Amino acid sequence: DTTPVVVTVTGAAGSIGYAAVFRIAAGDMLGPDRPIKLRLLELPQAVSAAHGTAMELQDGAFPLLTSVDIFDDARAAFDGTDFGLLIGAKPRSKGMERADLLSANSAIFAEQGAVINDVAADDIRVIVVGNPANTNAAVAAASAPDVPAERFTALTRLDHNRAIAQLAAHTGAPVRDISRVSIWGNHSATQYPDIFHARIGDRSGADVAADTDWLVGDFIPTVAARGTAIIEARGASSAASAANAAIDHVRDWVLGTPADDWTSAAVSSPGAYGVPEGLMCSFPVRSVDGAWQIVDGLEINEFSRARIDASVAELQSELDAVAARR
Ligand code: NAI
Repeated sequence: DTTPVVVTVTGAAGSIGYAAVFRIAAGDMLGPDRPIKLRLLELPQAVSAAHGTAMELQDGAFPLLTSVDIFDDARAAFDGTDFGLLIGAKPRSKGMERADLLSANSAIFAEQGAVINDVAADDIRVIVVGNPANTNAAVAAASAPDVPAERFTALTRLDHNRAIAQLAAHTGAPVRDISRVSIWGNHSATQYPDIFHARIGDRSGADVAADTDWLVGDFIPTVAARGTAIIEARGASSAASAANAAIDHVRDWVLGTPADDWTSAAVSSPGAYGVPEGLMCSFPVRSVDGAWQIVDGLEINEFSRARIDASVAELQSELDAVAARR
């Protein structure tokens, strides 16, 4: 199919947006045959910066990029959109309570969800990157009653990729020989990177996980706190790796996951694995015919169950806090 697709990126002048748009224009997200019309949505004060990014995109002379348009109005930016990368969000400012952060963002994502409902393509696919990503995605989905909930997702692929990278570093197995890693729950400190079902070179994940000191004392906290470690080292939050993960997520959603592997994404729970319906929870997922399917039938041991439950409880409390404020 060579009809151009419309891709709307919010927060396009921010760090992740800046890293993402060049990869999208280069064809890394939708393949080498799909022409792209890029729409950049920004706050009015960042529109000028977005124009600068658009000039650089022009200077990339990307054969697949047929247009770049800049908006500060969501309704215009999402008109007919096929793919929405919702990266822009209100950052946590000094002294801000978590409840205030949740409600400030829920206002943004409720508005964008409603606009998507009204004007986007019927088969739009949305990935929310802006934090708190899972709850923002749940709010957007709830504000778009005519769009099937499975078309809204949130990014936990960065956590997934970080888990693979840590496994490679720990075991010496090359990244390409590691499969079936799972991230469960929230994109937050409570997330649970599960390796019990993984394949790591010629070892089973359960075998590697048997080193409980490493699993509990090193692996899980390193993956969960990687974002903080990068802020400390770089003086800025992870941007290129987050953009890379968002592109991985959309590419696999459209083009499919490898036959004997799966990935992780936050999707609207249908009640799977005891996760209440409607929570936007990270699961192990496969993409089949352009739709995410939660990998079913995995045996969840007690160790995993406790950690999944804790992260799911946090997701529920975030959604409750948002509902209480509205
Ligand atoms: P940034 O502050 O560099 O850029 C954010 C951009 O969004 C700014 O240019 C801002 O003007 C824009 N923006 C804010 N509200 C907007 C709105 N209502 N509509 C359109 N644009 C809006 O931030 P950065 O580093 O690019 O991060 C973006 C978000 O991604 C943050 O919320 C961050 O916490 C989150 N994040 C999520 C990750 C994940 O794995 N889910 C990983 C890393 C970051």
